[in-house]
Amino acid sequence: MAGFPDDDGDPVVVLRELLDAAGRRPLTRPPLWPSDVADDATPVEFSLALDESGDRAVRILGEPIPENPGPAANIHAAKRFLTHMAQRLDLTLHRFHAVEDLFLAEEPQGKFALWFSVILRPGRPPALKVYFNPLVRGVDAAPALVAEALRRLGLDEAYDTVASSALRRGAADRFSFFALDLDNGPLSRVKLYISHESADSATVERAAEAVDGVNPMALREFLTLAGGGTGPFAGRPLVSSYSFVEAGAGRPGNYSLYLPIRDYVPDDEVARAQVLAHFDRAGLPAAELDRAIGAVTGRALRDGTGLIAHVSLRLGRFGTGTTVYLSSEAYAVTAPRGRMSTAQPRGTATATL
Ligand code: TRP
Repeated sequence: MAGFPDDDGDPVVVLRELLDAAGRRPLTRPPLWPSDVADDATPVEFSLALDESGDRAVRILGEPIPENPGPAANIHAAKRFLTHMAQRLDLTLHRFHAVEDLFLAEEPQGKFALWFSVILRPGRPPALKVYFNPLVRGVDAAPALVAEALRRLGLDEAYDTVASSALRRGAADRFSFFALDLDNGPLSRVKLYISHESADSATVERAAEAVDGVNPMALREFLTLAGGGTGPFAGRPLVSSYSFVEAGAGRPGNYSLYLPIRDYVPDDEVARAQVLAHFDRAGLPAAELDRAIGAVTGRALRDGTGLIAHVSLRLGRFGTGTTVYLSSEAYAVTAPRGRMSTAQPRGTATATL
């Protein structure tokens, strides 16, 4: 990719290491491990982050899968990847070390223990983000685990702030990811994610109130355009995330809303049209979405669903932006659901890809 240095930070090299044995395995053989990163068990997902400021990043979410995978073996492989990356990139690991014993259980439960996101920006070495699973010791243990992790990171008040705005509907609202930026920039973040089962727009508008300066109408508009309505979203859940930066004194600086758009459209042609309706409203260029789609697939968009897996909106003091998550579909394409006669795609009626 133009602008990326051709050295140890080479994105291709980083990606190869990220995937471990899964990256060396021919795609004609079944997946080594049922990774939850993507629906078809590919342990990788791409995303394009478009900042209102004009900044762009390409990100790769991945799960290292070793030759003999298993809950403990996967943690081992992930730590090996992190050690390698720390030798090559300028990583800051003190936050990771402060909480790893909480989240890296000997017998991990849930769908994963450690994921990474590799963040690529032109002219800069790759940055890394790590995701822990708050459910790793079971659903009931998650609140105490998250509270303790935040406390160790000096964010003592964060738990109550988040709980009072995002954990209001009993078991329907629950922690899904706990993430750390592994660089030392002034905006290096601790990020906490909450899934909201069967939520509607009001649920996430309320969740966003924890962050100063967020206009709840922006969320409602985003759901209406990209999600086709204000809910309830009864398929895969809407997800809220809060970012804490050290400079933010324990208050979240950003709120993001993730829409698993693939559950709310009949196929990717409709998904693209709905994302573009939001792009139009947000002043983002349609060509950038199409370029990203063209980079990961050559298939007709109406022949499947889930290429566009999620779309997210980030709001707050530390930048506003939209991110589109694209599946590699390396193993499988999910069949389209078929369109209802009334459900015409909005905006552009035909995809040109
Ligand atoms: N595939 C999982 C899911 O859809 C995890 C995941 C991957 C995810 N990328 C995401 C969740 C982006 C929320 C947002 O739930």
